[in-house]
Amino acid sequence: MAYLVEDKRKVTTHRLFQMKQEGKKIAMLTSYDYTTAQIVDGAGMDIILVGDSASNVMAGNMTTLPITLDQMIYHAKAVVRATKRALVICDMPFGTYQVNPTEGVTNAIRIMKESHCDALKLEGGVEIIDTVKKILDAGIPVCGHLGLTPQSINKFGTYTVRAREEAEAEKLVSDAHALEEVGCFAVVLEKIPAALAERVTRELKIPVIGIGAGGACDGQVLVVADMLGMSTDFSPKFLRRYADLNAIMTEAIGNYITDVKSGDFPNENEQY
Ligand code: KIV
Repeated sequence: MAYLVEDKRKVTTHRLFQMKQEGKKIAMLTSYDYTTAQIVDGAGMDIILVGDSASNVMAGNMTTLPITLDQMIYHAKAVVRATKRALVICDMPFGTYQVNPTEGVTNAIRIMKESHCDALKLEGGVEIIDTVKKILDAGIPVCGHLGLTPQSINKFGTYTVRAREEAEAEKLVSDAHALEEVGCFAVVLEKIPAALAERVTRELKIPVIGIGAGGACDGQVLVVADMLGMSTDFSPKFLRRYADLNAIMTEAIGNYITDVKSGDFPNENEQY
C-alpha cells in the first residue's frame, strides 16, 4: 500500500545503488499504459519497466520481436505521464540496437527525447558491450538483461531455464561483470538457477533484479498482467499471482451485460 512507502522522492539510479548497499529490496513491475502505471506508481513501486513484453501482453504477439520503436515510445510516453515516484525504464526493442553502436545510440536518444523515460534496458552481454558503452557515453542510464533474453528466443528455441550448464553460467557471470564495468546501473537476470543469481548478486556492486532467478537478488520484477491474474494461459513456476483479475473482470463484465440486456442499466439515477 502506498502509505508503506515513506520516501516519496523520485527514485533515481543513485537511490537504487544505495538501496543495494543498505540491503533494501527493490520492487519492479511492468506497465504499458497510463491507467495501470498510475496505480502501480501510486502503490509505491520503485521501478516501472515499459517492457517489450507489451508485444505479448498488449498486442497478442507470440514473441517480443515484432514490437517497433514507435510502439515502445507510445507505451513509454503514457507510463511516464502517469508516474510521479518510480524510475521508468523502457526496453529497447529487437532490431534497434543489434546492428551497430551508432544505430543503437541514435535509437536510444530517440526513446529518451520522445518518451522522457529515465533509463533503457538492453538484452545481452559482451556482444553488445560497445553499443551499451556508447549509449552510456551519451549520458543515458542502461540496465542490462541476461539469462533468458526473450529477443533471442528463436536462437534458444525454448523458454526453459538458462545457464544450467557451467559454460553458459560462466559466460553469464563475465557478461554481468562486463556490464557493470562499462557503467550499467542495474542488471535483470531472467530464469536462471537461484544459486547462480545469488553469486552474481554477491559479486556485483550494482543492483541485480531477478525474474525467476530466486530470492537472493536485490530486487524482483514481474509482468503486471501475470501477477494480477489477468492472463490465464501463462503459469511458470516463478510466477506468484496476487489477484484473480480475470475472474473479477469477467464477473463484472458479465453483470454489465446482464443489466444492459434486462434494461436494469441505466436506472433513473444514472441518466440526465
Ligand atoms: O519485457 C519485459 O517485461 C521484461 C521483463 C520480463 C524483465 O523484460
